Amino acid sequence: MYSLLHHNTFGIDAQCAEFVEYDSVEKLQTLLPSLQGKRWLQIGGGSNLLFVKDFDGVVLHSRIVGCDEVHRDTHNVWLRVGAGVVWDEFVAYCVEHGFYGLENLSLIPGEVGASAVQNIGAYGVEACQYIEKVEAIDVATGVLRTFDNQSCQYAYRSSIFKHALRGQYIITYVTYRLSLKFSPDLDYAAIRRELEQRGMNPATLTAQNLRNMIIQIRQSKLPDPKELGSAGSFFMNPVVDNECLQRLLKSYPNMPHYNVEGGVKIPAGWLIDQCGWKGQKMGQAGVYSKQALVLVNLGGATGQDIVNLSNAVRKDVYDKFAIRIYPEANFIE
Ligand code: EPU
Repeated sequence: MYSLLHHNTFGIDAQCAEFVEYDSVEKLQTLLPSLQGKRWLQIGGGSNLLFVKDFDGVVLHSRIVGCDEVHRDTHNVWLRVGAGVVWDEFVAYCVEHGFYGLENLSLIPGEVGASAVQNIGAYGVEACQYIEKVEAIDVATGVLRTFDNQSCQYAYRSSIFKHALRGQYIITYVTYRLSLKFSPDLDYAAIRRELEQRGMNPATLTAQNLRNMIIQIRQSKLPDPKELGSAGSFFMNPVVDNECLQRLLKSYPNMPHYNVEGGVKIPAGWLIDQCGWKGQKMGQAGVYSKQALVLVNLGGATGQDIVNLSNAVRKDVYDKFAIRIYPEANFIE
């Protein structure tokens, strides 16, 4: 048995039968036959996982690293990045080298492979806007397949790898297409507010300034996994139709909401906050005091403690607002 304590940012002390790392596509292909008949799970930085109990199988982790420029034209650069590269190190590298687009995704925990599964997003930007293609190995056959952006079926925190092809492919490399010209995305309310407060002029903002600012906003709102276990946002923000929105606005005229494709997004953090859950706890699982969307491990929580809290929060949100919220974190049972 092997402890997964240091492989999940929730800090859950779950065990797995075997833990295997590989640092090349060939090594991954060579080990695939040994997975036959066993349960297996590919993890990245473990920042979006909840081990509900011990995992009776093989946990795989990529050590495929490297970031190579594969193409460049007058406007863009294409970088092929190993799935095992730490996400924020990649963002830092891009900002340093003048490859733009990912600044708003600074400090998101996790690795590059997972960025393409989860379609990570923050402050108005999603990874899928910059993903050109994804290379992945078919676990059943060992054959390499390349997915273009369209065939990854990206949506809010979602991709084909999370749904239709879940458990069938292991991502080895992701090619990002970045801009050589800095044109920041500053539409998000929290960013506009921050720029104003700091008296910063968007016209003279640099990518490094923007990255630093995003890092500071995240640090002020989200727990540092090294200090307090969490999986970042635990729930996804629900998207409701206009009828539901009007019903809610009658009772809660100040409810924040944003128009998105297919409806109106309501911040789950606000819904949970309104239920009085912010800063509350159940056993060793808690709702983070600075952002109600985040569930935290207050020390020694089990996966089941987190699930119990999640169920209680979801029930209260449903009872109060008649809206169902769903976890963003992947439950491993
Ligand atoms: N709000 C509250 N109470 C709370 C939390 C939020 O009233 O406890 C309200 C805020 O006042 C604000 C609104 O909810 O009006 C939205 O809050 P925020 O800007 O913090 O963003 P979010 O929707 O709660 C999403 C992402 C985060 C990402 C931020 C910034 C999801 C599931 N989460 O959170 O992503 O960093 O926007 O873009 O979409 C993650 O996925 O792990 C993550 C941290």
